[in-house]
Amino acid sequence: MNPQNPPWWQGAVIYQIYPRSFADANGDGIGDLQGVRARLDYLAELGVDGLWLSPVFRSPMADAGYDISDYCDIDPLFGSLDEMQQLIDEAHARGLKVLLDFVPNHTSDQHPWFLESRASPDNPKRDWYIWRDEPNNWRAALGAGSAWSWDEPTQQYYLHLFLPQQPDLNWRNPAVVEAMHGVLRFWLDRGVDGFRIDVIHCTAKDETFADDPRCLAGLPLSDFNDQPYSHEILRGLRRVVDGYPGERVLVGEVNIRSTERVLSYYGAGDELHLAFNFTPLDAPWDPILFRTCIHDVQQWLPPAGAWPTWVLSNHDNPRQRSRYRGSLGAAHASAVLLLTLRGTPFIYQGEELGLLDAQIDAAARSDPGGRDGCRAPIPWQAAPPHGWEGAAPWLPFPPEADSRAAELQRTAADSTFALYRRLLAARKASAALRLGGFEELAAHPELMVYRRQCEGDVRLICINFVERAHACPHGLGWSVQVASDGAGEGQPFDGTLRPLQAVLLRPHED
Ligand code: GLC
Ligand code: CA
Repeated sequence: MNPQNPPWWQGAVIYQIYPRSFADANGDGIGDLQGVRARLDYLAELGVDGLWLSPVFRSPMADAGYDISDYCDIDPLFGSLDEMQQLIDEAHARGLKVLLDFVPNHTSDQHPWFLESRASPDNPKRDWYIWRDEPNNWRAALGAGSAWSWDEPTQQYYLHLFLPQQPDLNWRNPAVVEAMHGVLRFWLDRGVDGFRIDVIHCTAKDETFADDPRCLAGLPLSDFNDQPYSHEILRGLRRVVDGYPGERVLVGEVNIRSTERVLSYYGAGDELHLAFNFTPLDAPWDPILFRTCIHDVQQWLPPAGAWPTWVLSNHDNPRQRSRYRGSLGAAHASAVLLLTLRGTPFIYQGEELGLLDAQIDAAARSDPGGRDGCRAPIPWQAAPPHGWEGAAPWLPFPPEADSRAAELQRTAADSTFALYRRLLAARKASAALRLGGFEELAAHPELMVYRRQCEGDVRLICINFVERAHACPHGLGWSVQVASDGAGEGQPFDGTLRPLQAVLLRPHED
């Protein structure tokens, strides 16, 4: 990596698309690839640099597509291979990168590999999955109980760290490694710019299959599984990707709440390019907690040459505003934080509209893990059916679907969308924000103040986490470039942060 010429993904902002809920083009109530294609201009207008699509591959949909039965084909629900190629090409034509979701830990139980594996104990693919005569105490995620399911015909248990319909692959088998490398090549050959890798920390298991006391305490193994062999698996994936021109990127989901452990998945520059660090995903809008997560990142990642990522929401967790007790002010301030920290930010679809989670009756829930609220469909138009013509969408709309609709927010200067657009434009135009150093300045404990600098380019960011005004003398002598509430933009900063206000400041003479 050449510091003078950093790879594109260091300066980029990536937008996560959850395709089922993004936009529906054929009126069956489920978002699809044509729906995404039709909204590429929206993403370009917002000003993001790339998109990551949650899985769109063939799947029985036991875990909404994270249970894949063919890695190299598109599920008819979402479209076709040709449509995916068009989407990649049209995104590229707008300067947008495309990342796909690579799910290496498990397949669907309907994947032909697993159908063969379970056909008989001496099937050549038996060892592609993890079969044992006796279970241990490992627990599955998504409320699935034991991580072992009994297969009556062949009289053994198979391992699944998630649903029983998601059997875990055996990555110690070289044939599995080769087949999965082939999956990466299939998509790299079609021009994708990289992959988000699902639960990479889960791929290697303790070979002794020892009971784990943390599972006794009720936690799923996937919350902490962290075996050395995962790094070997990852180095193999990295070699495949590095064999392609054009700075393809691997972004890994390391779903362990320890920044220090997350760091290990960058390897020695030979594993992940970017690792998700989820500690801020759980944090309420609290200065102490945020300062701690940010300090942890500063302490561990940059000294090791690892480029940070920032994620405040995704398809598995409540939305920012819902986590911040419904506060739009906090959601807006968090957008300033997300887009001005040092590292690559990820925006989950709908955050740019300030959406809340949908309230969904038990009967209408579709996810075994109870994550439906943040997966509600995007309201495009103010009037029902909010741009979802035809069958009703697969989940109900979020609250305020009329007033928060994208159509209204695109033209309103004081909208959440407009704030994101201003922040993204400011970031694009400033080397300090994209690539510069990070220095925190001493401030009142309810504030966070930091400086970003790259050679002569400098910005100051002041964030008020609480609902009362605070003096912020650091900002005197600077101009307000972007304010989370729009107040005073283009004018000298008056030294006061309003309740829950966050400001991006630039030097006067800039
Ligand atoms: C990841 C995905 C989640 C999925 C799980 C199993 O955590 O983000 O949606 O259920 O892996 O694939
Ligand atoms: Ca559809």
